[in-house]
Amino acid sequence: MADPQAIEQRVNRGLLNQWYPVLPSWAVAGTPVGITRLSENLVLWRDAGGAIHALEDRCPHRGARLSLGWNLDDRLACWYHGIEVDGTGTVRRVPAVDRCPLEGRQAVKRYPVQEVRGGIFVYFGDDAHPEPCPLQLPEALISDEHGAILCFAHWHCNWRYAVDNVMDPMHGAYLHAVSHSMAAGDKSATMQMRKTPTGMIFEKTNQRDVNFDWTEFGDTGAMWLRLAIPYRANAGPGGSFGISGFVTPVDEDNCTVFFWRTRQCTGWVRDVWQFMYRTKLEGLHWAVLEQDRTVLENMAPNARSREFLYQHDTGLARLRRVMEKKAEAQLDTLAQAQAKTAGIEHVHVRTLSS
Ligand code: FES
Ligand SMILES: [Fe+2]
Repeated sequence: MADPQAIEQRVNRGLLNQWYPVLPSWAVAGTPVGITRLSENLVLWRDAGGAIHALEDRCPHRGARLSLGWNLDDRLACWYHGIEVDGTGTVRRVPAVDRCPLEGRQAVKRYPVQEVRGGIFVYFGDDAHPEPCPLQLPEALISDEHGAILCFAHWHCNWRYAVDNVMDPMHGAYLHAVSHSMAAGDKSATMQMRKTPTGMIFEKTNQRDVNFDWTEFGDTGAMWLRLAIPYRANAGPGGSFGISGFVTPVDEDNCTVFFWRTRQCTGWVRDVWQFMYRTKLEGLHWAVLEQDRTVLENMAPNARSREFLYQHDTGLARLRRVMEKKAEAQLDTLAQAQAKTAGIEHVHVRTLSS
């Protein structure tokens, strides 16, 4: 069984064997882009056909950042001595020497990538799970019935604070009491939990469709959170304003948040809504998000070690346990796989030496 410190560190850095959004699509164009996610350094680039590739951001020669180099379409060239690495992580050319044995070697870690609704998703697997799992995103992000606009930000706090924040609907009535969307409704509530086929819903028992009254956690190849904010009819078509959110760890002290704002509408109505959102509402939403960011960034990094949780915190407490269990299972599986490999190697060495 993995030790509690290792479990805590795994959760703090990010659970593996799943997909995370890492950047909005617009952030990767012609030049290679270097990022840190889940405490790993990645380089992303777009080839001439528009496809995105992602590799570990480290040249196999002497470790320079590949993201400082050149985009040669299907490969990158390292700035330092010109080694060329393709999208599979294979060294294709070492221009400085003749017939270098590095040529043809798969020497750089490759990350599976897919783009959905203006977001770039990357699969982070451990050694026991290098191949990606299927990714099933919330309905509003894959159905043609919805418009979706991505809002992306860096927050200077551990990603778990941002997850806890969305699993806590009651903060809407206080932190966002002075806002365009969360001024109404009761200031107190009794909360309850409901299981769903892909996770859970944490909701107020006494109020619905007035404020931020429920939140859903789903685990479907990526971990996501979903909620709805009721709006006046003149704020747009298609019922409540939906938010499908993801939090991606950068390192133990930073994260990126991805909130897709969704509305159930199609065709010209969707076009008009998107235009009106961009011109009228988006600024107001950023103001609300800034309230969250300010509170979370000013909490101590170890705030979780001295808390007094009450009934409204059973949702986030439950989710913390879910994540700790996942981390524990991942560490145990990895340790077993490593022990098995070591055993095979041990037998192999004995066979060779006998
Ligand atoms: S470090 Fe990249 S080519 Fe030398
Ligand atoms: Fe909030």
